[in-house]
Amino acid sequence: MSKKILITGACGFFGSHLSEFFVKKGFSVVAFDRYNPTNDFGWLQNSQYKKDIEFILGDIRDYDSVYKAIQGSEICIHLAALIGIPYSYISPLAYLKTNVEGTYNVLEATKNLNTEQVIITSTSEIYGSSQYNPMDELHPINAQSPYAASKVAADQLSLSYYKSFNLPIKIARPFNIYGPRQSLRAVIPSIISQCINNINPIKIGNIESERDFTYVSDTCESFNCILESSKLFGEIVNIGTGKNISIKNLAELIIEKIEKSKSFSVDQNRLRPEKSEVSSLLASTSKIYTNTKWKSKISISEGIDKTIYWMEENLNKFKSSNYIV
Ligand SMILES: NC(=O)c1ccc[n+]([C@@H]2O[C@H](COP(=O)([O-])OP(=O)(O)OC[C@H]3O[C@@H](n4cnc5c(N)ncnc54)[C@H](O)[C@@H]3O)[C@@H](O)[C@H]2O)c1
Repeated sequence: MSKKILITGACGFFGSHLSEFFVKKGFSVVAFDRYNPTNDFGWLQNSQYKKDIEFILGDIRDYDSVYKAIQGSEICIHLAALIGIPYSYISPLAYLKTNVEGTYNVLEATKNLNTEQVIITSTSEIYGSSQYNPMDELHPINAQSPYAASKVAADQLSLSYYKSFNLPIKIARPFNIYGPRQSLRAVIPSIISQCINNINPIKIGNIESERDFTYVSDTCESFNCILESSKLFGEIVNIGTGKNISIKNLAELIIEKIEKSKSFSVDQNRLRPEKSEVSSLLASTSKIYTNTKWKSKISISEGIDKTIYWMEENLNKFKSSNYIV
């Protein structure tokens, strides 16, 4: 019989791809996301795999709904989170409740249910600006935003459940993920959508920042490789390509491909407060390469092409208010 896998935050950008990926792999997928009165399943609403997925709407902040959703699943992958850094300056407490208490609910429920394996999703933002490159899992932690701080707390709580209760957790730490369905608040979709709409100059935030971008299908593969590894229990593992690109070079690459918008300018509204700006992130891939079979396959140029193609077909699926960072 196929294993049952519960994915929290399954209706979001990455969760929707991961849910479809595991359906295709033959798992029984249970998608957990936030309750809403219209029974909307986000990016899975019109998925060709919708009929193969069991949906449970609830709230990650509510222990009872998390416990009931996880009951019956052998594997839990926890993605549900508030992820926007700008909103974390406005409502830090919402990030603590969703990202920390939400992770506590997942840990406590999986402990009580004896779940076989739990993958917690971290983020490279917890490292802050790189102090050395490439950044391995031992790089110092330096939360520069309330979002990053909430993820540090969630990671540490997860490690404490491994050490205190032997809960079979693994911490997957993606650097930047990109691809179809990502919010227009993220840098790649924001630049692409402005280019497609012939906005000139296009507006972007800090152009000097450097990021390590992994295409979403590669990130799905990496989660599967981490899941299959027998060695990574109680461990943190980076997911990145080991290559980074400045936002300036990224914008130039996209402009060159779309050939509509001709230039870009820095929008002061998109800058983070100075001390909160994470200047550079570059993953060390040693640990994931040593412990799993994973390697990223899609280059940044190919991934941008795929994302542009998808966005040209689907721009109507985004609300115009999403342009505002
Ligand atoms: N996108 C990236 O570049 C990136 C990089 C590193 C780590 N991550 C991590 O990956 C995970 C998924 O991120 P994403 O980019 O898909 O974001 P997303 O915002 O698209 O998805 C998050 C999902 O969590 C759900 N959620 C939020 N609050 C909830 C609540 N109270 N109850 C139930 N569900 C709730 C949302 O409805 C959404 O579907 C997050 O944990 C994020 O921190 C993302």
